[in-house]
Amino acid sequence: MSEAIPPGRVLLAGATGDLGGRIARELRKRSVAVTAIVRRGTAADRTARLRALGVDVVELDLDSVAEVAATCTGTTCVVSALNGLEETIIGTQGVLLDAAVAAGVPRFIPSDFSLDFTRTPAGSNRNMDLRRDFKARLDVAPIRATSILNGAFADMLTGQAPFILFGLRRVLHWGDVAQPIDFTTMDDVAAFTAAAALDPATPRVLRIAGEQTSPRGLAAAAS
Ligand SMILES: NC(=O)c1ccc[n+]([C@@H]2O[C@H](COP(=O)([O-])OP(=O)(O)OC[C@H]3O[C@@H](n4cnc5c(N)ncnc54)[C@H](OP(=O)(O)O)[C@@H]3O)[C@@H](O)[C@H]2O)c1
Repeated sequence: MSEAIPPGRVLLAGATGDLGGRIARELRKRSVAVTAIVRRGTAADRTARLRALGVDVVELDLDSVAEVAATCTGTTCVVSALNGLEETIIGTQGVLLDAAVAAGVPRFIPSDFSLDFTRTPAGSNRNMDLRRDFKARLDVAPIRATSILNGAFADMLTGQAPFILFGLRRVLHWGDVAQPIDFTTMDDVAAFTAAAALDPATPRVLRIAGEQTSPRGLAAAAS
């Protein structure tokens, strides 16, 4: 992707979250103007790091298309790093999409950041189903969209959902021990998202992986 294109302003939702904060940092590293929209009443200490990065933090009602659209004016790309279930991924993210369209924003990056949900069977994974439902809505909206499919966050290997049980010297898995699994670190996903937000030539879906391995490969690596 080209990074030589002059940066516009990026509007970011979910910037108080883990991935969103990292995307804000990567955008600011590239000297991009960033507006972070946060829920009204968000505690000042939750936005202090964003402000220190030079991010413009705007508190508003994320259920109001009119309020979000007014803040979208002059934005070249809306990036969503929202996290949640239907209320958020379809509801709040839907408001964000409607507002971006109403304000004439040319590009939208939804909060996908997942394995390839375009190929998972319906009903097999709630979170993938929500992303597919949102994609159907996004694909008929008059805005150019880019989904980033990065597999699992590599950070989860030893964090939130440990696959490697160091104490037991075991890798936790089910199914095929040779099943390929994509991993990308959150920092790499954030850097990639920032680059994609600045590049109007990105395709509809970007499938990326920092590493592809399997339960057997994880066991070998951990050993
Ligand atoms: N591929 C993987 O392995 C993997 C792992 C984890 C996450 N993810 C994905 O990465 C993305 C970001 O996740 P994360 O872990 O960074 O999330 P997170 O730390 O939980 O942050 C979520 C953000 O969304 C905001 N938010 C949630 N519901 C909202 C609502 N109704 N209205 C307004 N703001 C709302 C939160 O705002 P407040 O601060 O106000 O609550 C926060 O800024 C999501 O798509 C998630 O599914 C992928």
